Order: sequence, then C-alpha cells, then structure tokens
Amino acid sequence: MLLRLRLSRAIDKLIAPQHMAMRKLSGKASTRDWKKEALTERISGHAPERVEAGLNQTLKDLNLSYLDLYLMHWPVGKGPDDKKYHYDYVETWQAMSKLLRTGRVRRIGISNFSPAQLKELVKHSIKGDSPLPAVHQMELHPYLPQAKWIYAHKAHGIAVTAYSPLGNMNPTYGDRSRREVTTQSKAPLLLENETVKSIAEKRDCTPAQVVLAWGMNRGASVIPKSKHENHIKENLDATKCELGTDDLADIDGIGEEPIRFNNPSKGWGVHLFDGLDDA
Ligand SMILES: NC(=O)c1ccc[n+]([C@@H]2O[C@H](COP(=O)([O-])OP(=O)(O)OC[C@H]3O[C@@H](n4cnc5c(N)ncnc54)[C@H](OP(=O)(O)O)[C@@H]3O)[C@@H](O)[C@H]2O)c1
Repeated sequence: MLLRLRLSRAIDKLIAPQHMAMRKLSGKASTRDWKKEALTERISGHAPERVEAGLNQTLKDLNLSYLDLYLMHWPVGKGPDDKKYHYDYVETWQAMSKLLRTGRVRRIGISNFSPAQLKELVKHSIKGDSPLPAVHQMELHPYLPQAKWIYAHKAHGIAVTAYSPLGNMNPTYGDRSRREVTTQSKAPLLLENETVKSIAEKRDCTPAQVVLAWGMNRGASVIPKSKHENHIKENLDATKCELGTDDLADIDGIGEEPIRFNNPSKGWGVHLFDGLDDA
C-alpha cells in the first residue's frame, strides 16, 4: 500500500538524453522538496553505451543527485541517427544495473516489455548477471485490464505501474491524424463509459476516481497525468473512493474485448507486446 500511494504521487516524466523539454524543469527543481516525491524517469531510444550519459544529463537537468526509479522506456532502441531499431534490451539492462552501485539510481525498471522479453531478464537474474526489474510500467485501464499479465509480475515480486490509467483520455489517442495507429474509434472515452458513470454516481465519486480506485484495487500503482489543479486533487482523492466487489466485477467486464491505445509497432517497424492482449 505504501508503495502504491507513494507512486501515485510520483512525478513521471519522459526523458530521452536529447529531450529538451526537461531542461525547462531544471529551474523549478531546486525549489521543490523532492524528498516527498518519488521521482521516476525513463530512458528512451536506449543504447547500452548511452545509459550512463542519459542519467547524468537527467540529473543535471533536474538538479538532483539521484533518481528513485529509472525505467527502460521500450524493449527496442535506436540511436538518434539510426534508421532501424537494433539495440539489445539485455545489454541495456545490464548497463542500467551498473548504475545501482553508483547510488545515483535507487531502483531500475522496464516499460512495455512482452512476456518473452521479461522472461529473458528473469533468466539473467537467476544466473546472477543482473537484478530483476523493480517495476514494470505498462498500459493498464478498464479497456485493457491484462489481469493475467499483472498476476505474472506478482509471482516475481515485480511492482506494476499503470500508465494511461484513464484509458483514452489523453488527446494523443484521439487525434484524427493518428487514427491509423490508434483505436479511439472503437470505444467511447473511458470517463464517459456508462458503467463507470453509474458506479461513480452510486459511490459518490467521480468517473476518474472510480477508474483509478479500480486500478489500485488490482495491486497496481496508477500515474494519471493532468495539467489542471482540480483534476490533480481529484485524482489524489481516488484513494478515498471505496468500491464494492460488484463494482470491481462490473468494471472488469468493460475490458472483455481489450483495446490497446499505445502501440507504435507499425510506425517503428518492430513487433511489440507479443503474446499480450490487442498486440
Ligand atoms: N511508459 C510509457 O510508454 C508511457 C506511455 C504513455 C504514458 N505514460 C505515462 O503515463 C502517465 C499518464 O498517461 P497519459 O497521459 O497517457 O494518460 P492518462 O493519465 O490516462 O490521461 C491523461 C488525460 O486525462 C485527463 N485527465 C486527468 N485527470 C482527469 C480527471 N480527473 N478528469 C478528467 N480528465 C482528466 C488529462 O487532461 P487535463 O490535463 O486537462 O486534466 C489528460 O488529457 C504519464 O506520466 C505518461 O508519461 C507512459
């Protein structure tokens, strides 16, 4: 529970070594009491030889001495000038493991891995080459519940973080120019789903709180993103939204035909999420 609450307050920002947006944060970082937050960053476009430089740049940009959690954003990677994805996630993982000894990273984790890719890391951990991921960040919401996949992580003691926990609320998933790679047209906005709305009314919660409470009830941490103070407060108060087993079962029913909103496989020319729902 502690981890869940802690991560629900986490600051989760995308970072690539070349990601300029993070620089804008650097001025604010020194005025913030980061000790009260769990800070997660993801390395994108990974390559083993760029892992340490990527971390150093992040720490410099944010004016920090360490990160709570450092994630490999995708199991595939390519350099800024590469046309194709070609880096090996195992080598990148081993490079990330070395950072633990420096004290500049407290935990390392993964994001968007398939069962076979996770199995490969488990194999290396059993051999003693590298640790198991502390966290796996993945797309999870009532349209994509992935219950068995969550359960597989529990068996290994790997914490699961739900990204896009409000489903297709982020306009990215509804942009008409991206319809080919998204599936927004298949489903109404999650917070406008009739089942979610009726449970919200019954439990005196908002639809967002219902969806987030369901996410936490499944043993995952949830990381909703909002630019608005009222939404941020509302989302933090999701811990007070109490759902009954009947509510949880009704929300489980929403995902009987799973929908994945974030799958760049086609555009990147790779096959991601092999063996998972709506891959
Ligand atoms: N590892 C990965 O590959 C990956 C991929 C995607 C996302 N993520 C991470 O996951 C986090 C969230 O993902 P996301 O932005 O895709 O999805 P999300 O949190 O499910 O949805 C965000 C959208 O929901 C709206 N929203 C937030 N709270 C709301 C509320 N209480 N009521 C109504 N609308 C609300 C926000 O609008 P307002 O700003 O107007 O409130 C925003 O448009 C981010 O930290 C992101 O970096 C990780």
